[in-house]
Amino acid sequence: MTDRKPLMVGNWKMNANHLEAIQMVQKLFYRLDLEDYDRADVVVAPPFTSLRSLQILIETDHMRIGLGAQNVHWQESGAFTGEVSAPMLKKLDVGHVIVGHSERREHFGETDAIVGKKLKAVLAAEMTPILCVGETLEQREAGEAETVVTSQVTAALKGVDPLDVSGVVIAYEPIWAIGTGRTALPDDAGLIAGIIRETVLNVSNSEVASNTNVLYGGSVNAGNIKDFMAKEHIDGALVGGASLDPDQFATIVRYWR
Ligand code: PGA
Repeated sequence: MTDRKPLMVGNWKMNANHLEAIQMVQKLFYRLDLEDYDRADVVVAPPFTSLRSLQILIETDHMRIGLGAQNVHWQESGAFTGEVSAPMLKKLDVGHVIVGHSERREHFGETDAIVGKKLKAVLAAEMTPILCVGETLEQREAGEAETVVTSQVTAALKGVDPLDVSGVVIAYEPIWAIGTGRTALPDDAGLIAGIIRETVLNVSNSEVASNTNVLYGGSVNAGNIKDFMAKEHIDGALVGGASLDPDQFATIVRYWR
């Protein structure tokens, strides 16, 4: 038996100012009920500028919506102009932090080594890293998807205490499916999610591996979420575009209805 509870994360990317963010979370909140929160954990990851406003909103209205961040620096403080540290996020009641998103790897030069440092900083601050991994179209066509994903997971988890691995969420996001409207086939995504779980097993133990949340991300929407959630090793979704629409994101959260 595992105690994997589905996790639905909205990655807003660089969208919405803090006033819009408040409206979006209010709308989402009105569309969800207690059964939804019992069945799935719900997290929104807005830009940094909205975190404080949403923290206050969530606390004041006792919302069961978690706060996520999209990035973090690995140092606790110091001369790193423009960066935000894990303890700063923790202080804002952030529970989840996305690390290694393919857009950060591609546009901001984040390597596996950097991603690994960020992941460890998030764990050290007692938050949950959401480690993103995934292959390019070229790599998929060359039959390299499994190797790429395995090596990204192994590299990021290198040096993490095997027991601490239980605090990590891993999102499989094939790069060619992100923001393209083109998803992986649920069977293929389920297969890679299983490989991710095996990789976790190799660096931890069977209990940790069977309890690790593995998410799928890449053009998830209200129409296709069910097909992904039906897969044994997929425990939730990292949702970009569709999470900007509270109606659609709520439908994704309550995919089982
Ligand atoms: P998408 O983005 O749902 O818009 O494809 C997913 C992601 O980048 O996390």
